[in-house]
Order: sequence, then structure tokens, then C-alpha cells
Amino acid sequence: MSKTALTVFLCTHKDCNRAWDHVCDGSPGKWLKRQFEEAGLPYKLDVVKTDCMDRCKEAACLCLVHKDHARLLTDVRSKHDIGRLLAAAMDLVGVEWRVTERDS
Ligand code: FES
Repeated sequence: MSKTALTVFLCTHKDCNRAWDHVCDGSPGKWLKRQFEEAGLPYKLDVVKTDCMDRCKEAACLCLVHKDHARLLTDVRSKHDIGRLLAAAMDLVGVEWRVTERDS
């Protein structure tokens, strides 16, 4: 089965970097990829580290992009937020296929 491409713009600037330290040990990008893999989601994550997204008080921040849809996620503060991130990714990808399904 082919994987669905999902781009993750991941803020690694100062405040988010501090928040990511509470979420995972090491690289947040690798952690995210591992979580998606362990959840069995057929997504291929392309993680792009970014500078500040101007939402520092809501760190850690990331933006999921799939085709022409995007979802900004903030307040990622612990590993327990992974459920919310996975649900947002599934919803984001679902938006695209629901629109396609309706159009056919
Ligand atoms: S440091 Fe991430 S939004 Fe500013």
C-alpha cells in the first residue's frame, strides 16, 4: 500500500525547542515519525524544521500540510499529546478524500 505524503513544519526555535524537550528525548521529528509508524498510519512524513511561527506562548507548535490543506497544532507539551496530533493528521487527510468522494 502506498503511503500518503504529509509534510510537518516543526518549529524548533527557542520556546518550542524547550517544549519539545518535555515531549521526547532527542529529535522531535524522529519521535513524530516513530509515533506515526507505531500507530500504523500509512503516512510518509516529511519533517521540515522551521524558525519561530510567532505562537511562542503556545509552544510547541507544528503545522501539518497535506496537498492544499493545513492544520496548525499548538500546545504540544507532553508525549500524551500524540493522540491529538494523530487525530489531526487523520482528519487532515480525511478532508481531502471526503471532498474527492463528494465530487465523484
Ligand atoms: S518558538 Fe516556536 S512559535 Fe515561537
